[in-house]
Amino acid sequence: MDPSVQLPDKLLSRISIATKELERFSEVRVISHYDADGISSAGVVCGTLLRAGKRFHATMTKSLTEKVISEVDPDTELLVVSDMGSSQLDALEKLPCKVIVMDHHLPLRDSEKVVHVNPHLANIDGMTSASASAVCELFAISVDERNWDLLPVAFGGIAGDRQTIRGLSGLNKWLFEEGAKKGIIEARPGSLLPDGPLLEGLVNSTDPYVIGISGSEEGAKALLEEAGVPAAADLASLKEEQRMKLSSLLALKLAAQGTPMSTLEEVVRERYYFPSWKMDAENLASLMNACGRSNNESTGLAMALGDRDAMNGARELRKGYSSEVLEGLDKVVKNGVSKAENIQYFWNENLGLSGILCGVTMQYFGDRDKPTITLAATNGEVKISSRGTFELLDRGIDLAAALRESAAKVGGVGGGHKIASGATVPKGKEEEFLDALDKTIGEQKAQKKAAA
Ligand code: C5P
Repeated sequence: MDPSVQLPDKLLSRISIATKELERFSEVRVISHYDADGISSAGVVCGTLLRAGKRFHATMTKSLTEKVISEVDPDTELLVVSDMGSSQLDALEKLPCKVIVMDHHLPLRDSEKVVHVNPHLANIDGMTSASASAVCELFAISVDERNWDLLPVAFGGIAGDRQTIRGLSGLNKWLFEEGAKKGIIEARPGSLLPDGPLLEGLVNSTDPYVIGISGSEEGAKALLEEAGVPAAADLASLKEEQRMKLSSLLALKLAAQGTPMSTLEEVVRERYYFPSWKMDAENLASLMNACGRSNNESTGLAMALGDRDAMNGARELRKGYSSEVLEGLDKVVKNGVSKAENIQYFWNENLGLSGILCGVTMQYFGDRDKPTITLAATNGEVKISSRGTFELLDRGIDLAAALRESAAKVGGVGGGHKIASGATVPKGKEEEFLDALDKTIGEQKAQKKAAA
């Protein structure tokens, strides 16, 4: 069967330049982002380096600041930056070493000096169709075909950046099709119901997040009883009738809390399963995410490189992380979300949870008409996360541009993807930032309306 996706020459030629550069060096400095896609990217890059017999030093960081870049050892020969870098080309170009950037965030420009591998430069949307880890995997197989065995690691990043929720496309789809032919990956149907023991799965679920069930053993027990399912039951043991009843009850609860049909369809999305890891991509992503968000990126990287102890460590971290997320969500539900004309926002105390709290609020119970913003204070600064929906993007909203512009107005920085972006602003400037953002989002919508 012919592949349904053709990879653009521009992407392949950049990958081939990066591959040739790698051959010239025996030691590599790797800097990657700290989230699931960043850890997954670092896993793929470091796995490639290990197999190629290169020495490396890897670091994962929350953001690629001028400080991080200035601290790169002057003796470094080759620096590989993954899941970041496209917005920091000015600083990276000033480094004396060779630099390869493998990123998927919308770049403001290309580079002559840095080997800049970004799917956007080849007309592939990096927000939906190519994670940074997918770009790194393409590099990995260009270096050595045997690196197809790193595909599960790469899919952790694809799922972590939620590029699986509307079906695969672009580079992600190409990797899936090729990997499926090789028997490395399988597509399996998804479900509203959690896999494994139902009570535990329902209580720990944030995707879907069901108010009164997620985070509540009492609530989850009552739901199972209503569906005629024993509290100790496992998904695999359910009769079709029980499965239907439980799914319908969950769907009704979600509808009652304002979750739209489009989100429900996303929840029952196809899952990508790796027989060699006995795990699906979402599961791996949640482990990587728990490592990154709890400042244990190195555990995530070791797990990606196949360390079994690290995998057990990541499972423990996920337990702690998931109860923190559920507590955080409970607070958002109880305290409510403040509304401005064009945005909704809330404060949270745990910076590591910002992205997930913001995303779940947007997807499952927030106002669908307004992008969700969360703010968290840290030493002298306020970190901001924002999440939108595809419907909001259709109405002209671009959160990367809006956060970048609004943060710049108050002396901060911001960027990311149209649907999920972040910013940092000086403490005390947050009200001014929110006002600027509210206005900018209003202007984006008005511009789209005027153009329609
Ligand atoms: O931190 P959070 O998960 O909310 O970030 C969402 C997206 O915004 C990420 O892809 C991140 O890399 C990007 N971001 C950025 N510049 C910032 C903060 C976040 O590009 N200052």
